[in-house]
Amino acid sequence: MSVFFQTGKFCIFRKSFNNPFCNLLLLRNYSDPSKKFIKFNDVVEQRRAEARRSLVVQVNSESSFSELYGYCSKYAPIKDVYHYRNTEKEHFMLIEFETEENVKEVLQVCSSHQKDLDVMPIQSPFLWFKAAANNKETYKVPSSKSLATKDGITVIDDDILFEELLNCETMSNQMQLLYERTKLNDLGIRLRFMVARQFEVIFKSLYANAVVHPFGSSVNGFGKMGCDLDLVLTNDLTEEMSGAGRRLVFQEKRVEGGARAGGGGASARQLELLGALLELRVPGAAAVRRVLAARVPILKCAHVLAAASVDLCCTNTSGVYMSELLWMFGSLDPRVRPLTFAVRRWATAVGLTNPHPGRWITNFPLTLMVLFFLQQKRKTGFILPSVRFLVSKAGKQDIRIAEENINCTFLRDLNKLPQETYGQCEEDLETLLLQFFEFYAQFDFQEKAISINEGVPVRKPNALPLYIVNPLEQALNVSRNVSYEECERLKLEVRNAAWQLEAELEGKKEEDWGLLGLIERKGSRGLKKLLRVGNSHRLVSVKDLFKDDDFTSDTNTKSHQTKSDTEIEKSVKEMKQSMDNVEKKEQRMKFKNSQIASEVFRIRRNKIV
Ligand code: GTP
Ligand code: MG
Repeated sequence: MSVFFQTGKFCIFRKSFNNPFCNLLLLRNYSDPSKKFIKFNDVVEQRRAEARRSLVVQVNSESSFSELYGYCSKYAPIKDVYHYRNTEKEHFMLIEFETEENVKEVLQVCSSHQKDLDVMPIQSPFLWFKAAANNKETYKVPSSKSLATKDGITVIDDDILFEELLNCETMSNQMQLLYERTKLNDLGIRLRFMVARQFEVIFKSLYANAVVHPFGSSVNGFGKMGCDLDLVLTNDLTEEMSGAGRRLVFQEKRVEGGARAGGGGASARQLELLGALLELRVPGAAAVRRVLAARVPILKCAHVLAAASVDLCCTNTSGVYMSELLWMFGSLDPRVRPLTFAVRRWATAVGLTNPHPGRWITNFPLTLMVLFFLQQKRKTGFILPSVRFLVSKAGKQDIRIAEENINCTFLRDLNKLPQETYGQCEEDLETLLLQFFEFYAQFDFQEKAISINEGVPVRKPNALPLYIVNPLEQALNVSRNVSYEECERLKLEVRNAAWQLEAELEGKKEEDWGLLGLIERKGSRGLKKLLRVGNSHRLVSVKDLFKDDDFTSDTNTKSHQTKSDTEIEKSVKEMKQSMDNVEKKEQRMKFKNSQIASEVFRIRRNKIV
């Protein structure tokens, strides 16, 4: 299980990131139309190189730019400077220098310690900018130079987003806008690679061959602003390190406890050490929690300097290949990511997904559901191919074997894929979203499993309520945690959404038309509706805004469900009713909170008064 601590087992993974073939590819001219797809490894390698050329510096405010720019450019040429603030509203600048060597030069002139503090110094790419001892030095910044971003990782405010969605022409435009305005942006990705770089630099002091790779939504193209950062520590042996001709070999430390996962396994024990390292030696890492008894043991922490929550593991290298697979599917057709964003946002709004782990579906299986839907054959062909098809097109260079011999081999270079095997339909995003809901409203969850490997429904191997085949370990179900009740809720909500969209096609544009009606949280729907119009005659007292009626679930009032499902839905309704009651109570309690009260006041003042 523990790849990191089984030297040599992970050579194929290592080669994919380190070999000269990849480096050569970096020099390729992507304006060549026959090479319209970039490889995942190339993108990752570019991001890693960017991180090696960059430093993050805490500053006083965004107006520190000229002083910082002037000071740093004395030592090395600067490419760009990006400003952002963390959740504590502290200011930072990510500086990208021209070369990796430049960063080394700048690091040499850093001071590592304040004399009056009892701190053990450590070097990492996260720095702070001390006030000048005297004010004599003045710095000139070329007029062409300015901050590449200001407040570059701020998540768009829901009020602004909804206003923009309201002003869109079509629902397809709304979906595209939702994607553009909420996806993880360039600076968000840069910062995630900076954290990976920082961990790698520090872990290298203990593990000579440590490499830290981001995976999951930070790199798979489905990440939104503020998404968590999944990291995996891998054992990347270079040719020199394992060279057969080298006869003097470093003594190694073998760990008792075997390589089994879970509490007590070698990997869990190493994670304990890394946890202590994060707590004691990694600037920015805070609130470290150990989840070591899990199938894949992880460390969780917040990175306060990069404003990200981090999950670190050292066994789940197949997760990187999974990210590659998802990234490839997202690149094949420009509709895949906006559609997935709309579905994920809808699922959050109706409470199907939840940031905390539990018996409900999460974003990853939900994404697989979208991909599976797009693999269905249409009159004009396929939007996405199956994984089986990608495997059939794989060559020698695509072979990857991850931990526990998990076969992660599939075609990597999408330029080799025949054009008629993907993107073969003209439907717009709006139509696809409606079709998505209709598809799952009719899906036989009782008997069938969702498999993006096959691209068609397959027989369920067991009676678990929801079965979504893990594309890289097909004997596993990625939605095994989903309870019967949650699966029923999923079925109910896709029907509701389909009904809502169908009804809208016939009606006129309301205040929450199109996507808005699907992605506004139920609890705030009544409030938002009342406030958005801006009519003084619709002014209401705060008490009225939180009348119970506002929180009555739409699902309880619509009568579009089929008769054959009445029994099941009755029990689900009862369950939902009790959940809604809890929600109502929560809303009332929340409203007592003065922060919410002032938020309501702010919306009223801005929108109505
Ligand atoms: P968000 O964090 O919700 O934005 O999405 P995510 O895709 O990053 O999901 P998550 O953080 O839960 O998981 C990170 C990655 O781990 C996913 O993208 C998958 O590659 C992988 N993963 C998640 N759940 C499973 C699972 O049940 N089985 C396997 N094999 N891999 C999983
Ligand atoms: Mg994640």
